[in-house]
Amino acid sequence: MKKVSFAEFGGPEVLRLIDAEEPHAGPGQIRIAVRAAGVNPVDWRLREGQVLGAHPLELPAGVGLDAAGVVDEIGEGVRDVAPGDRVFGEGTSTYAELAVLSAWAPMPAGLTFAEAAGYPSVVETALRVLREVGVRPGQTLLVSGASGGVGSAVLQFARERGIRVIATAGAANQEYVRGLGALATTYHEGWTARVRRLGDVDAALDLAGSGVVPELVALTGDPRRVVSIADRDAPKFGVRFSGTAGSVPDALAEAAELIARGRLHIPVEKSYPLTEAARAHSDSQAGHARGRRVILV
Ligand SMILES: NC(=O)c1ccc[n+]([C@@H]2O[C@H](COP(=O)([O-])OP(=O)(O)OC[C@H]3O[C@@H](n4cnc5c(N)ncnc54)[C@H](OP(=O)(O)O)[C@@H]3O)[C@@H](O)[C@H]2O)c1
Repeated sequence: MKKVSFAEFGGPEVLRLIDAEEPHAGPGQIRIAVRAAGVNPVDWRLREGQVLGAHPLELPAGVGLDAAGVVDEIGEGVRDVAPGDRVFGEGTSTYAELAVLSAWAPMPAGLTFAEAAGYPSVVETALRVLREVGVRPGQTLLVSGASGGVGSAVLQFARERGIRVIATAGAANQEYVRGLGALATTYHEGWTARVRRLGDVDAALDLAGSGVVPELVALTGDPRRVVSIADRDAPKFGVRFSGTAGSVPDALAEAAELIARGRLHIPVEKSYPLTEAARAHSDSQAGHARGRRVILV
């Protein structure tokens, strides 16, 4: 089978499409024929040799965490799916024709494989940070970097919970984040004053890692009301860095229910064939997004 792999750490050019042995589902796992794989910043961070503490990796290594596809092998002890079922979930080396998943759920009706591949890790992350920041219905949450994958999910889960959101995003994404129910401003110079004009902030999320943790602490008045997923220096300011995943199946179940009711939709900004994984990584690394990027297999 074909799979994207890299044998040395480096830029997008280290990615190769290779012929590889088929993986097999171990106990509690399933194998899918991948139809689409989500592109996440962690994919290129691992390719560069970053974040290896959290995700140990042996070279040569495959790429990709999120996927949607058709079940074709069931590991020991798995009873909730059968070959032929359409699922979305998380696993390893998902930029490939076949991949093993360790967490999955049935694909919601009406979603394409490309759309479905965009959900798993961002919905888990969004639900986790909302929980960790402790924001309640009726309160106001500031979201820095709201237009990407995680931000798109956070805004819609917050809207569902009756949480008011003030979002920062690039100029091109102001209408996009307003469409997800948030008040919006850009993150360019003077942004903290513009946020203050939009209202008092009870809690804040740093989803972009753009060095704004001190400003988020000043806006909320309490470092315990701020969580970052993208700034490893956050603890220097008394702010929690959230890096440990919660339950992916629970997140997929909650997402699937909202998707079915038309209350959650994360658009695919762009899709790429398996042969263009390097371009998908360059585009993701450029740092601007409206929803998700996916690889089509
Ligand atoms: N710790 C964890 O568990 C965890 C989990 C998932 C993701 N992450 C990290 O969280 C970050 C976001 O992930 P993602 O999947 O949402 O990425 P993404 O889809 O690539 O989105 C990146 C976002 O950053 C925004 N941005 C760029 N420059 C900005 C600035 N100066 N100020 C504010 N926003 C800015 C972009 O907004 P515009 O396009 O509007 O400019 C875009 O919405 C990544 O660094 C990723 O590695 C961490």
